[in-house]
Amino acid sequence: MILVIGGTGKAGREVVRQLAEIEVLTRVLVRNPKTAHEVKELGLEAVEGDLTNVAGIEAALRGIEKVFILVPPSQNEAELKSSIINAAKKMGVKHVVMLSGAGATHDSPISQARQHAKADDYLRASNLPFTILRPYFFMQNFLAQAEIIKSQGAIYGNYKDGRLAMVDTRDIAAVARACLTEDGHEGRIYIITGGEPIAHAEVAEKLSRVLGRKIKYMDLSSEQLVEGLTSMGYPEWLANDLARLGENIATGQFASKTDVVEKIAKKNPFTFDQFVKDNASTFS
Ligand SMILES: NC(=O)c1ccc[n+]([C@@H]2O[C@H](COP(=O)([O-])OP(=O)(O)OC[C@H]3O[C@@H](n4cnc5c(N)ncnc54)[C@H](OP(=O)(O)O)[C@@H]3O)[C@@H](O)[C@H]2O)c1
Repeated sequence: MILVIGGTGKAGREVVRQLAEIEVLTRVLVRNPKTAHEVKELGLEAVEGDLTNVAGIEAALRGIEKVFILVPPSQNEAELKSSIINAAKKMGVKHVVMLSGAGATHDSPISQARQHAKADDYLRASNLPFTILRPYFFMQNFLAQAEIIKSQGAIYGNYKDGRLAMVDTRDIAAVARACLTEDGHEGRIYIITGGEPIAHAEVAEKLSRVLGRKIKYMDLSSEQLVEGLTSMGYPEWLANDLARLGENIATGQFASKTDVVEKIAKKNPFTFDQFVKDNASTFS
């Protein structure tokens, strides 16, 4: 049996949906009754629990062979993941598949990337069989900008003309599903990208074409971006991380693509056009 932790967010909900589709025995840790209901409707088991409650996580891990770990972006991401890894070890889990992020290094200017590097090292040192997934920027991040796209006809960033091989979370989930249900992925770190590195001006053109109205890309300085994000309520650490990420994208750090989706999930990655078409009602 598989336990999914973080199975209701952008990437996690797709992992859950795809496991339900192939009818693998799956339990999902959820933190509220409404999402528990949605999980049960898919024919899966839901257990209520919180990432900060170790006893609850240990209880959810009882009888579990493989666990998928995803925690929300936060400044204590490595700490949360380490306590789940300890619990998995204690409860005799046989394989941990963990969502990390591309660019995970200890000297990254992005605090999230440093958190990922720390958690990934912790898992590798745990002696538990593991697979680490390091995706690029999610296409689904644009869904959170849908209101701005609708009202202002614009997307904003500090990416200049840097290309980015962003990935659809459905493809991340397809890789996770393979790692959770097939042999041969232990000890591997997979960098998951989409198939077409594109600059944000092209992203705006694609949005315009599919939605049938003009969407512009407005390039900002890092300072303007941080100011805009904090005025929208983003915590300062996250606004700074997004500005540093944008600077890295501008230099082309995330422009290269891998063939992980093709090789591991055995499919072609979703294109950005397809992502927009599939989510047109949210953007329109
Ligand atoms: N976004 C990107 O472009 C990107 C790229 C690469 C890597 N990543 C990494 O991907 C990971 C996930 O990011 P995301 O943006 O996909 O996250 P997300 O959509 O916010 O999902 C977070 C999940 O964690 C659950 N959760 C949050 N706090 C919890 C708590 N206290 N107890 C139990 N469950 C809790 C949420 O449940 P609820 O539904 O109840 O809120 C949700 O299922 C992060 O490590 C991030 O750094 C993201």
